[in-house]
Amino acid sequence: MPVTDEASWDERYRSRSALWSGDPSPHLVTVAADLVPGAALDVGSGEGADAIWLAEHGWRVTAVDFSTVALERSAARALEMGADIARRITWLHKDLTDWVPVAASYDLVSAQFMHLARNQRELLHRRLAESVAPGGILLVVGHHVSDLQTAVARPAVPELYFTASDVAASLAPTKWMTLVDEVRARQTVDAEGRSTTIHDAVFEARRTD
Ligand SMILES: C[S@@+](CC[C@H](N)C(=O)[O-])C[C@H]1O[C@@H](n2cnc3c(N)ncnc32)[C@H](O)[C@@H]1O
Repeated sequence: MPVTDEASWDERYRSRSALWSGDPSPHLVTVAADLVPGAALDVGSGEGADAIWLAEHGWRVTAVDFSTVALERSAARALEMGADIARRITWLHKDLTDWVPVAASYDLVSAQFMHLARNQRELLHRRLAESVAPGGILLVVGHHVSDLQTAVARPAVPELYFTASDVAASLAPTKWMTLVDEVRARQTVDAEGRSTTIHDAVFEARRTD
């Protein structure tokens, strides 16, 4: 069964000193590189690599996750990077299936590999969209279901996967200009140590009103 509850995620983070690479998402870096830094929201912030990268590049970041272990690890890493970085990030312990971000507040809202059951995911995407300020950017990235055909570790639950078009379908069409609706390939190393190609669903849109 995939890990979906808070205690299981805490346990997963406790089991290793680092679950993720520590590098920011290449999709986020590409998008943010063209933006004037402002207020950003990063949901499912994990070990904090994206939030810290954004703070390093001048953003004020609200980073949300329900794993206390991940949040503490992230905050410690941010402090190691410097007090000026740490001060720009607010770490929030919230369950994204019921937390409602403040509406129209963020210049950039990012969800990287935040996989939920379909109903919860659609609700989250609508709430995230509402939290984007007029003129701001919504970036949602997920593992593509085709990764299940590879030897890379992924939950074998097709419902957890979405396409960029699924994200678009959750948004009010009149308020958004879609900038990216793609499946992007990238290289990784699979469970047997072989180089392999995986795919990400990438959705980026600008709020127009
Ligand atoms: C696959 S990890 C992605 C972490 C990070 N975004 C990255 O790309 O490295 C998913 C993260 O979402 C968090 N998460 C899962 N379900 C959640 C929920 N309902 N509320 C808040 N956080 C959740 C987990 O604790 C985990 O840190």
